[in-house]
Amino acid sequence: MASKAKPVRLAIIGTGGMANSHASAFAAIPGVSLVAGVDVDPARAAAFATKHSIPQSFPSLEALLASGLAFDAVTNVTPDRFHAPVSLAALKAGKHVLCEKPLAVDHAEALRMVKAAHAAGVVHMVNFSYRNWSAIQGIARAVERGVLGELRHIEASYLQAWLVSNAWGDWRKTPAWLWRLSSQHGSKGALGDVGVHIVDFATFPCGPISEVFCRLKAFPKAPGDRLGEYPLDANDSAVLNVVFANGALGTIHTTRWCGGHANRLSLKIAGTKGTIDFDSERSTTAYRVCKGQAVHTAAWETVEVKPTPSNYERFIRAIRTGKPEQPDFDRGAQVQRVLDACFASDAAGKPIRLS
Ligand SMILES: NC(=O)c1ccc[n+]([C@@H]2O[C@H](COP(=O)([O-])OP(=O)(O)OC[C@H]3O[C@@H](n4cnc5c(N)ncnc54)[C@H](O)[C@@H]3O)[C@@H](O)[C@H]2O)c1
Repeated sequence: MASKAKPVRLAIIGTGGMANSHASAFAAIPGVSLVAGVDVDPARAAAFATKHSIPQSFPSLEALLASGLAFDAVTNVTPDRFHAPVSLAALKAGKHVLCEKPLAVDHAEALRMVKAAHAAGVVHMVNFSYRNWSAIQGIARAVERGVLGELRHIEASYLQAWLVSNAWGDWRKTPAWLWRLSSQHGSKGALGDVGVHIVDFATFPCGPISEVFCRLKAFPKAPGDRLGEYPLDANDSAVLNVVFANGALGTIHTTRWCGGHANRLSLKIAGTKGTIDFDSERSTTAYRVCKGQAVHTAAWETVEVKPTPSNYERFIRAIRTGKPEQPDFDRGAQVQRVLDACFASDAAGKPIRLS
């Protein structure tokens, strides 16, 4: 049966690994049609279009725009360094934009994107995809309601294993992993790739960071720290010692070296009235809380949180209703600012204050 929802015609820019998740998620939303796949590798774009029943493919966003094909929105799933140029071109053409994370390669670039998005007056969102886990939405609401009292101590981590595990393929032979290890290819390392998620994940419920002391490290992993065209210089571990604007202290860390944890996010938030504990390997729809009298016996209660709309659904809803949704480009830029401070802190060997 045809959907009564306002039709939204979407082009997918960048048809590599992650684009498959975008295509499946958008195709499942009633009234959304995927009208074009775009990739600088035309064969990849064509194969992707066939796989997802997308009628047309193009070698660039410029070629798509020049074709005159009608569409409303783009989802930008290109590698990190192309997020800004591709999004800016789409915004200039008046298209709504969902952009992959990190929003940009640095805060200044992110601010240019924010400015262009506001000037275009379209929907702009960044795909901090762990917002799709209902648990984090429930945690944010609980913290806002004051369930934990005043926040004191936050512990957040994002652990991956692909430098020691072949579960996601051999990184030495996979371009999608190799560009992530090379700053020359626009990567900001583990911090820019997944640290960006855990900074969003921690600050969404706990509020902004006012100071950060960060250490970054790229461990040796190939002779001469290079494989073919890829210098392997981007950080693969990051440890952040942070102060939140509300006064709480915290540690946030990430690594690609943690065998046994393919993709684990964890978050512990301790306050004057209790503690919330989240572990994605336990559940992504539930968290544990120890509060009130239960703190005396260390008794934990599990809170199941009803499903939340995904970023893909929020993006389409915002296009249809005209009401902005989170996480938007402004939010992406705020997180980018923390990342910039991390690089500055690591380079200077001292804490950096964020005003
Ligand atoms: N939100 C998440 O959880 C999540 C998960 C994985 C990846 N990502 C993000 O998605 C993006 C893509 O990652 P991936 O793993 O799919 O990478 P990938 O290398 O598999 O795919 C990127 C594709 O973009 C194409 N491309 C490069 N420049 C382009 C341009 N200017 N125009 C059109 N196409 C272009 C490449 O040819 C490639 O096919 C990255 O920014 C990554 O950080 C996000």
